[in-house]
Amino acid sequence: MRIDVLTLFPEILEPVLKESLLGKAIEEELLEIVLTNPRDFTQDRHRTVDDTPYGGGAGMVMKCEPLFAAIESLKDRNSLKRVIHLSPRGRRLDQDLVKELAQEKDLVLLCSRYEGVDERVVEGIVTDEVSIGDYVLSGGEVPALVLIEAISRMLPGVIGDWESVETDSFFNGLLGIAQYTRPQTFREMSVPDVLMSGHHEAIRRWRRKEALRVTLQRRPDLIDKLVLTKEDNELLAELEAERSRTEKEIQP
Ligand code: ADE
Repeated sequence: MRIDVLTLFPEILEPVLKESLLGKAIEEELLEIVLTNPRDFTQDRHRTVDDTPYGGGAGMVMKCEPLFAAIESLKDRNSLKRVIHLSPRGRRLDQDLVKELAQEKDLVLLCSRYEGVDERVVEGIVTDEVSIGDYVLSGGEVPALVLIEAISRMLPGVIGDWESVETDSFFNGLLGIAQYTRPQTFREMSVPDVLMSGHHEAIRRWRRKEALRVTLQRRPDLIDKLVLTKEDNELLAELEAERSRTEKEIQP
Protein backbone atom coordinates (compact mmCIF):
# COMPACT_ATOMS: atom_id res chain seq x y z
CA MET A 1 0.00 0.00 0.00
CA ARG A 2 1.16 3.53 -0.74
CA ILE A 3 0.28 6.50 1.44
CA ASP A 4 1.19 10.03 0.35
CA VAL A 5 1.17 12.55 3.19
CA LEU A 6 0.97 16.28 2.52
CA THR A 7 2.46 18.21 5.38
CA LEU A 8 4.25 21.48 6.09
CA PHE A 9 6.13 19.63 8.86
CA PRO A 10 7.57 16.37 7.52
CA GLU A 11 10.03 16.42 10.47
CA ILE A 12 7.14 15.55 12.81
CA LEU A 13 6.42 12.31 10.96
CA GLU A 14 9.89 11.19 9.85
CA PRO A 15 11.26 9.84 13.17
CA VAL A 16 8.05 7.95 14.01
CA LEU A 17 8.02 6.27 10.59
CA LYS A 18 11.50 4.88 11.23
CA GLU A 19 10.73 3.01 14.44
CA SER A 20 9.24 -0.28 15.56
CA LEU A 21 6.57 -2.08 13.52
CA LEU A 22 5.96 0.87 11.19
CA GLY A 23 9.66 1.21 10.43
CA LYS A 24 9.86 -2.51 9.71
CA ALA A 25 6.76 -2.49 7.48
CA ILE A 26 8.27 0.35 5.43
CA GLU A 27 11.70 -1.31 5.28
CA GLU A 28 10.11 -4.56 4.08
CA GLU A 29 8.13 -2.60 1.46
CA LEU A 30 4.76 -3.74 2.82
CA LEU A 31 3.93 -0.07 3.12
CA GLU A 32 5.32 2.94 1.24
CA ILE A 33 4.98 6.39 2.80
CA VAL A 34 5.91 9.46 0.78
CA LEU A 35 5.97 12.87 2.45
CA THR A 36 5.30 15.91 0.26
CA ASN A 37 5.56 19.50 1.43
CA PRO A 38 3.02 21.88 -0.17
CA ARG A 39 5.56 24.66 0.36
CA ASP A 40 7.53 23.11 -2.51
CA PHE A 41 4.55 23.90 -4.75
CA THR A 42 4.41 27.64 -4.14
CA GLN A 43 5.31 30.13 -6.88
CA ASP A 44 6.25 33.23 -4.89
CA ARG A 45 9.55 34.31 -3.36
CA HIS A 46 8.27 33.84 0.20
CA ARG A 47 6.87 30.36 -0.48
CA THR A 48 3.52 31.40 0.96
CA VAL A 49 1.16 28.58 1.93
CA ASP A 50 -1.39 30.50 4.02
CA ASP A 51 -3.29 33.77 4.04
CA THR A 52 -5.79 35.72 6.16
CA PRO A 53 -9.44 34.61 5.97
CA TYR A 54 -11.89 36.53 3.77
CA GLY A 55 -14.46 38.22 6.00
CA GLY A 56 -11.96 38.60 8.81
CA GLY A 57 -11.42 36.50 11.87
CA ALA A 58 -8.52 34.99 13.75
CA GLY A 59 -5.74 32.88 12.30
CA MET A 60 -4.65 31.94 8.84
CA VAL A 61 -6.09 29.66 6.17
CA MET A 62 -4.09 27.30 3.94
CA LYS A 63 -4.27 28.48 0.33
CA CYS A 64 -5.78 26.59 -2.60
CA GLU A 65 -2.98 26.82 -5.17
CA PRO A 66 -0.13 24.99 -3.37
CA LEU A 67 -2.49 22.28 -2.05
CA PHE A 68 -4.09 21.57 -5.44
CA ALA A 69 -0.67 21.61 -7.12
CA ALA A 70 0.85 19.29 -4.50
CA ILE A 71 -2.04 16.79 -4.66
CA GLU A 72 -2.23 16.87 -8.46
CA SER A 73 1.52 16.22 -8.66
CA LEU A 74 0.82 12.77 -7.16
CA LYS A 75 -1.49 11.74 -10.04
CA ASP A 76 1.04 9.48 -11.77
CA ARG A 77 1.70 7.39 -8.66
CA ASN A 78 -1.54 7.68 -6.74
CA SER A 79 -5.11 7.05 -7.92
CA LEU A 80 -6.36 10.04 -5.78
CA LYS A 81 -9.43 7.86 -5.10
CA ARG A 82 -9.24 8.65 -1.37
CA VAL A 83 -7.84 12.08 -0.51
CA ILE A 84 -8.32 12.37 3.24
CA HIS A 85 -8.21 15.65 5.13
CA LEU A 86 -7.50 15.13 8.84
CA SER A 87 -9.91 17.45 10.59
CA PRO A 88 -11.86 17.58 13.87
CA ARG A 89 -15.03 18.00 11.81
CA GLY A 90 -14.49 14.73 9.94
CA ARG A 91 -15.95 11.25 10.39
CA ARG A 92 -14.76 9.81 13.68
CA LEU A 93 -12.05 7.19 13.15
CA ASP A 94 -12.90 3.70 14.35
CA GLN A 95 -11.70 0.18 13.56
CA ASP A 96 -14.33 -0.28 10.81
CA LEU A 97 -13.00 2.78 8.97
CA VAL A 98 -9.41 1.60 9.53
CA LYS A 99 -10.27 -1.80 7.97
CA GLU A 100 -12.04 -0.08 5.05
CA LEU A 101 -9.08 2.22 4.31
CA ALA A 102 -6.59 -0.65 4.63
CA GLN A 103 -8.29 -2.24 1.56
CA GLU A 104 -7.25 0.68 -0.68
CA LYS A 105 -4.21 0.48 -2.96
CA ASP A 106 -3.24 4.05 -2.13
CA LEU A 107 -4.31 7.00 0.01
CA VAL A 108 -3.48 10.69 0.24
CA LEU A 109 -3.50 12.26 3.72
CA LEU A 110 -3.71 16.03 3.93
CA CYS A 111 -2.47 17.55 7.20
CA SER A 112 -3.68 21.09 7.73
CA ARG A 113 -2.37 23.69 10.15
CA TYR A 114 -3.61 27.10 11.16
CA GLU A 115 -7.41 27.56 11.04
CA GLY A 116 -7.75 24.91 8.35
CA VAL A 117 -7.78 24.89 4.59
CA ASP A 118 -9.65 26.95 2.03
CA GLU A 119 -13.03 25.22 1.66
CA ARG A 120 -12.52 24.90 -2.11
CA VAL A 121 -9.77 22.35 -1.40
CA VAL A 122 -12.29 20.26 0.53
CA GLU A 123 -14.95 20.68 -2.17
CA GLY A 124 -12.64 20.29 -5.13
CA ILE A 125 -10.18 17.50 -4.34
CA VAL A 126 -10.67 16.05 -0.84
CA THR A 127 -12.87 12.92 -0.78
CA ASP A 128 -13.05 12.24 2.98
CA GLU A 129 -12.56 14.12 6.24
CA VAL A 130 -11.46 12.05 9.23
CA SER A 131 -11.22 13.03 12.89
CA ILE A 132 -9.35 11.05 15.54
CA GLY A 133 -11.62 12.33 18.34
CA ASP A 134 -13.56 15.23 19.75
CA TYR A 135 -10.67 17.46 20.71
CA VAL A 136 -8.58 19.94 18.76
CA LEU A 137 -4.91 19.44 17.94
CA SER A 138 -2.62 22.02 16.38
CA GLY A 139 -2.40 20.15 13.11
CA GLY A 140 -3.13 16.96 11.22
CA GLU A 141 0.33 15.40 11.57
CA VAL A 142 -0.32 13.42 14.76
CA PRO A 143 -3.77 12.31 13.50
CA ALA A 144 -2.11 11.18 10.23
CA LEU A 145 0.37 9.09 12.23
CA VAL A 146 -2.48 7.58 14.24
CA LEU A 147 -4.27 6.64 11.02
CA ILE A 148 -1.12 5.25 9.37
CA GLU A 149 -0.24 3.11 12.38
CA ALA A 150 -3.77 1.73 12.71
CA ILE A 151 -3.92 0.92 8.96
CA SER A 152 -0.46 -0.66 8.98
CA ARG A 153 -1.59 -3.25 11.54
CA MET A 154 -4.27 -4.43 9.09
CA LEU A 155 -1.87 -4.98 6.16
CA PRO A 156 -0.90 -8.58 5.41
CA GLY A 157 2.54 -9.45 6.83
CA VAL A 158 2.96 -6.41 9.09
CA ILE A 159 2.04 -8.22 12.30
CA GLY A 160 3.85 -11.55 12.35
CA ASP A 161 1.33 -13.20 14.63
CA TRP A 162 -2.13 -12.48 13.16
CA GLU A 163 -3.71 -13.86 16.34
CA SER A 164 -2.46 -10.77 18.16
CA VAL A 165 -4.42 -8.56 15.73
CA GLU A 166 -7.51 -10.69 16.26
CA THR A 167 -7.27 -10.20 20.02
CA ASP A 168 -6.74 -6.43 19.72
CA SER A 169 -9.44 -4.27 21.23
CA PHE A 170 -12.13 -3.47 18.62
CA PHE A 171 -10.87 -5.94 16.00
CA ASN A 172 -13.78 -8.28 16.68
CA GLY A 173 -16.00 -5.56 18.10
CA LEU A 174 -15.01 -6.18 21.73
CA LEU A 175 -12.44 -4.60 24.03
CA GLY A 176 -9.22 -6.54 24.58
CA ILE A 177 -8.84 -8.52 27.78
CA ALA A 178 -6.28 -8.45 30.58
CA GLN A 179 -3.05 -10.33 29.81
CA TYR A 180 -0.51 -11.82 32.22
CA THR A 181 3.08 -13.02 32.05
CA ARG A 182 5.61 -14.42 34.55
CA PRO A 183 5.82 -14.44 37.55
CA GLN A 184 2.69 -16.40 38.44
CA THR A 185 2.36 -14.46 41.71
CA PHE A 186 3.50 -10.86 42.15
CA ARG A 187 2.97 -9.02 45.45
CA GLU A 188 0.28 -11.55 46.40
CA MET A 189 -1.57 -10.98 43.11
CA SER A 190 -1.98 -14.23 41.21
CA VAL A 191 -2.69 -15.06 37.59
CA PRO A 192 -6.22 -16.55 37.10
CA ASP A 193 -6.05 -20.35 37.58
CA VAL A 194 -7.65 -21.16 34.23
CA LEU A 195 -4.69 -19.63 32.36
CA MET A 196 -2.36 -22.05 34.15
CA SER A 197 -4.56 -25.06 33.41
CA GLY A 198 -3.27 -25.82 29.90
CA HIS A 199 -6.91 -26.54 28.97
CA HIS A 200 -7.15 -24.72 25.64
CA GLU A 201 -10.92 -24.87 25.25
CA ALA A 202 -11.49 -23.62 28.81
CA ILE A 203 -9.01 -20.79 28.20
CA ARG A 204 -10.70 -19.79 24.93
CA ARG A 205 -14.13 -19.71 26.59
CA TRP A 206 -12.78 -17.79 29.61
CA ARG A 207 -11.16 -15.21 27.35
CA ARG A 208 -14.34 -14.68 25.37
CA LYS A 209 -16.27 -14.26 28.62
CA GLU A 210 -13.71 -11.76 29.95
CA ALA A 211 -13.88 -9.78 26.69
CA LEU A 212 -17.67 -9.66 27.02
CA ARG A 213 -17.39 -8.73 30.72
CA VAL A 214 -15.00 -5.81 30.20
CA THR A 215 -16.91 -4.55 27.15
CA LEU A 216 -20.24 -4.75 28.98
CA GLN A 217 -18.78 -2.78 31.89
CA ARG A 218 -16.93 -0.10 29.94
CA ARG A 219 -18.51 0.11 26.48
CA PRO A 220 -22.01 -1.43 26.47
CA ASP A 221 -22.65 0.42 23.19
CA LEU A 222 -20.21 -2.00 21.50
CA ILE A 223 -22.22 -5.02 22.69
CA ASP A 224 -25.35 -3.56 21.10
CA LYS A 225 -23.58 -3.51 17.72
CA LEU A 226 -22.30 -7.10 17.98
CA VAL A 227 -23.76 -10.14 16.21
CA LEU A 228 -23.93 -12.51 19.20
CA THR A 229 -23.28 -16.23 18.86
CA LYS A 230 -25.11 -18.86 20.90
CA GLU A 231 -22.04 -19.11 23.12
CA ASP A 232 -21.96 -15.31 23.59
CA ASN A 233 -25.57 -15.40 24.79
CA GLU A 234 -24.72 -18.18 27.25
CA LEU A 235 -21.70 -16.23 28.52
CA LEU A 236 -23.74 -13.04 28.85
CA ALA A 237 -26.36 -14.97 30.83
CA GLU A 238 -23.59 -16.27 33.13
CA LEU A 239 -22.28 -12.71 33.58
CA GLU A 240 -25.80 -11.48 34.38
CA ALA A 241 -26.27 -14.30 36.93
CA GLU A 242 -22.91 -13.42 38.54
CA ARG A 243 -23.91 -9.77 38.66
CA SER A 244 -27.26 -10.35 40.35
CA ARG A 245 -25.56 -12.74 42.81
CA THR A 246 -23.04 -10.07 43.88
CA GLU A 247 -25.82 -7.47 44.08
CA LYS A 248 -27.71 -9.74 46.49
CA GLU A 249 -24.53 -10.23 48.55
CA ILE A 250 -24.14 -6.46 48.87
CA GLN A 251 -27.85 -5.86 49.71
CA PRO A 252 -29.10 -9.09 51.34
N1 ADE B 1 -6.64 18.27 13.34
C1 ADE B 1 -6.80 18.95 14.49
N2 ADE B 1 -7.50 18.27 15.38
C2 ADE B 1 -7.81 17.07 14.78
C3 ADE B 1 -8.54 15.92 15.19
N3 ADE B 1 -9.12 15.82 16.39
N4 ADE B 1 -8.66 14.90 14.31
C4 ADE B 1 -8.11 14.99 13.08
N5 ADE B 1 -7.42 16.07 12.65
C5 ADE B 1 -7.28 17.09 13.49
